[in-house]
Amino acid sequence: IRVPLIAPSVLSADFACLGEEIRAVDKHGADWIHLDVMDGHFVPNMTFGPVVLKSLRSYSKLFFDVHFMIEPVDPFIEPFVQAGADQISFHIEAGPHAHRSLQHIKSFGIKAGIVLCPATPANAISEVIDLVDNILIMTVNPGFGGQKFLSSQLAKIRAIHEMVQKSGRSIHISVDGGINVQTAPLVIEAGANVLIAGTSIYGQPDYGQAIDALRGTKK
Ligand code: DX5
Ligand code: ZN
Repeated sequence: IRVPLIAPSVLSADFACLGEEIRAVDKHGADWIHLDVMDGHFVPNMTFGPVVLKSLRSYSKLFFDVHFMIEPVDPFIEPFVQAGADQISFHIEAGPHAHRSLQHIKSFGIKAGIVLCPATPANAISEVIDLVDNILIMTVNPGFGGQKFLSSQLAKIRAIHEMVQKSGRSIHISVDGGINVQTAPLVIEAGANVLIAGTSIYGQPDYGQAIDALRGTKK
């Protein structure tokens, strides 16, 4: 059976002590740290920039999975690489030059990913699949934590899974939005291997138990 990677999304953490919040999930078995970057333009909310990311870097050696919800993308790639991103994934909807942006990210030697909003069909990324290390399928509309999982996205996860199999490349399939113990088995069955979760980890009293529950193990 496939073991999913668990990526707590700090969007639901206490921003007054983000470093400690990251250290806490690191200690309790998180695989990646998911960091949502929002600009108030591509999505109707704002979070943080590279200065904050850099200050968090000393709190954990885990893989920093940066989710760009910004437009434009290119001017912010290098600052986030310098700040310590291990992977940058940006939205295919953020502009016509996803191919160039992926090359730009990879030129720094870090991992590159592409993200699809719920309204975007799977085949929108068919021409860039050879360049990606990660495909992130949004299972809510981006911008906020705590929204309801869109089960309409399960068919897209299956379609992307098939595209990845055909490509013969090793590409992570991530899901983000409304992932909890009820929805996790559905997305895993559809082909996802990275579970991004905000509310169902940081909204729980015991982070360790929440992470184990999502992974499908008992504590
Ligand atoms: C939403 C963000 C998510 C968010 C998910 O735009 O990309 O990472 O934190 O939150 P939950 O898990 O609460 O749906
Ligand atoms: Zn996210």
